Amino acid sequence: MEFLQKIWQMAQQDKKRIVLPEGEEERTLLACETIVKNGLAELVLVGNIGKIKSKAKEIGANIEGIAIEDPENSERTSLFAQEFYELRKSKGMTMEKAEKIVRDPLYYGTMLVKLGYVDGMVSGAVHTTGDLLRPGLQIVKTAPGVSVVSSFFIMVVPDCKYGEEGMLVFSDCAVNPNPNAEQLASIAIATAETAKNLCGIDPKVAMLSFSTMGSADHELVEKVRKATEIAKERRPDLLIDGEMQLDAAIVKKVADQKAPGSKVAGNANVLIFPDLQAGNIGYKLVQRFAKAEAIGPICQGFARPINDLSRGCSAEDIVNVVAVTAVQAQKNI
Ligand code: ACO
Repeated sequence: MEFLQKIWQMAQQDKKRIVLPEGEEERTLLACETIVKNGLAELVLVGNIGKIKSKAKEIGANIEGIAIEDPENSERTSLFAQEFYELRKSKGMTMEKAEKIVRDPLYYGTMLVKLGYVDGMVSGAVHTTGDLLRPGLQIVKTAPGVSVVSSFFIMVVPDCKYGEEGMLVFSDCAVNPNPNAEQLASIAIATAETAKNLCGIDPKVAMLSFSTMGSADHELVEKVRKATEIAKERRPDLLIDGEMQLDAAIVKKVADQKAPGSKVAGNANVLIFPDLQAGNIGYKLVQRFAKAEAIGPICQGFARPINDLSRGCSAEDIVNVVAVTAVQAQKNI
């Protein structure tokens, strides 16, 4: 069964509440009907009630029965301002500024997540990745034991024998520009958990570099080597190995030559990139040259799930990201 079909089924089994703070946006409104009709999630829209209703009418989107919260008129706004002020006062936040900031739909939506009114948030059809992540990082923060929020792509490569019959999980391709060794280890562990819990695969995690098992010496390689050591030490139950080159990670013949004895080399289905330049370029190379489906970026490591959309997304993309977010909420990932 296709990955997204499975995700839909899982979402339907235990319906979660997801907030869409870009409530006045067309594709978001169009997605609502499919989400509700298919029982993927209960929704909360944020925005001006009049504007949302007239936009929905104009484009023929059925949003009947969906809760709408307007930060300008909500009785929760002052509570959110107080909570946000408490959270950020050590960073110089004032009550006056907090009252203004929580009226921003992204901050208001993030406060709904933080205080448990909803289980997760999806946004980014109009806002940038940074616009969405910043309130998430400031308010919801990381899950216990996780040092960084990161992101992953599920890559589904047609006619491919690498990974799980062409399915691989790539990380981090969208959030951390230059993680240090400790952060890279945390990303590797989080991605292994994601591969297991969301994709149902037995993770074999390769820590990628331009060197395989000491073939080159450089500070960039040293970072990956150290990250591998930290990850292995922290989670001896997981199959994580490195540092290794991409071919050693996925091609058995190369692995036999360059990394004999490694249980990961030649079998990797989770690829951890050393920094964001490598990760972002890497997933796009596979997407374009191999015509792979790239599902993501999906965030991992938040205390409650928050996900970003591409500004070029379709209503269908929004439906799928909401379903993934609902499943992450079910499984605490
Ligand atoms: N995990 C956990 N916390 C974090 C992380 C992280 N990855 N990054 C920042 N933080 C925390 C900081 O510690 C800080 O906390 P504090 O204010 O409580 O002290 C807070 O979040 C804000 O941190 P800043 O460094 O001020 O935030 P910044 O403005 O740098 O934004 C962001 C962070 C948005 C993640 C930034 O690193 C970024 O823009 N990343 C790249 C996003 C991007 O452009 N991706 C590529 C496009 S997506 C694509 O192509 C699919």
